[in-house]
Amino acid sequence: MDSKIETTSNIRAGAFINQAKGQPLDTIVANIDGQQRPTGGTPTDRMLRQAGTIIRRGGLVAFPTETVYGIGANGLDETAVKKIFVAKGRPSDNPLILHIADLSHLPQYVKQINDKARQLIDYFWPGPLTIIFDKSERIPYAVTGGLETVAVRMPQHPIAQWLIEYAAVPIVAPSANLSGKPSPTEVGHVIEDLQGKVDMILAGGNVEYGIESTVIDVTTAIPQILRPGSITRSMLEQVIGEVGYDPYLEDTSQKPKAPGMKYRHYAPKGHLQIISSPSSERLVEYIKRQAKQHQAQGRRVGLIMPNHLQDRFEDCVVAGIGDINNPKQIAKNLFAKLRYMDQQQVDIIFCYDFGEEEAMVAVMNRLLKAAAQNKISV
Ligand code: TXA
Ligand code: MG
Repeated sequence: MDSKIETTSNIRAGAFINQAKGQPLDTIVANIDGQQRPTGGTPTDRMLRQAGTIIRRGGLVAFPTETVYGIGANGLDETAVKKIFVAKGRPSDNPLILHIADLSHLPQYVKQINDKARQLIDYFWPGPLTIIFDKSERIPYAVTGGLETVAVRMPQHPIAQWLIEYAAVPIVAPSANLSGKPSPTEVGHVIEDLQGKVDMILAGGNVEYGIESTVIDVTTAIPQILRPGSITRSMLEQVIGEVGYDPYLEDTSQKPKAPGMKYRHYAPKGHLQIISSPSSERLVEYIKRQAKQHQAQGRRVGLIMPNHLQDRFEDCVVAGIGDINNPKQIAKNLFAKLRYMDQQQVDIIFCYDFGEEEAMVAVMNRLLKAAAQNKISV
């Protein structure tokens, strides 16, 4: 965690001007220790109480979850929910996930909980799994982008759970990035994107997974994964039997069932291309040749490579993303490495193709989206 961040409103320099209102918000940044359950009167308790009050009164609080940081608002307050779309620059037809901390509240927000949903809840909640239900009347259409369904998840991160408990309302939370940027996996990313746009940021260290939750729809005869995440198809199948993918995930000319999937997320500023090859040597030689040509024309070249290849290149900005045999590590580092490429102002990015094994499905889904499906074999 960044030790420079104190429990103060030190992000008030006015660096960001909210163009719609002409005024930046006075964002409070609070360090929260997620190790110890807060007791009355401690600094953590005071900070969480303040954050909970902000949410209940219709403000915005960014907070860590086990997947990525989220930007939260009272999910029952339509005006508050709409602020999220403004802060992120998010299209209003892209529905939000409702986060709860207490299972006994779920029936208020959904029409029914079928057997498969119940089995998934028993097995995977709290955790990185979002389940689609038919919504109850209590959920505003601003949350669901006009849909009759609502996405719900119970996060596992203690700070996320505490915030929901202190707010005493369910919290809608998309990833805490500006629309189109990689999701934030460290509080520094949140500050970069949202300072002056939210009332408070809870700093709680780095996230555990680094990729957003798996989204599953269990309202169809064969449940479907709408967005792949750390909880994979076979993990789900072990609990509820056959599970399919939304056809969009295998053929991007189809219409995705999760409206957010159609947007080009996670895009770095540089032109990103994914390169696959049956031979590492061929891959390295190809990229070296390409890099030379780009450099000769004055372009900066960035590379996202598994650790065992990161020392093979000269004069490039190289990010080692992790051990090729450790999909969890690669998932956790992906968004930070895409942001790093932006910081380094590279013009061209070549990224290793992590292949088709199941543990890499979520990583490749995000990468292909970041690359606008631009992938070649050499
Ligand atoms: O891990 C996560 O899920 C993070 C953390 C903060 O909890 N949140 C997150 O939210 O990734 P967001 O808004 O960036 O992504 C929500 C995804 C979008 O693709 C959206 O279209 C889909 O869930 N979604 C939400 N409600 C839906 C619904 N009723 N039907 C289908 N898809 C839905
Ligand atoms: Mg997002």
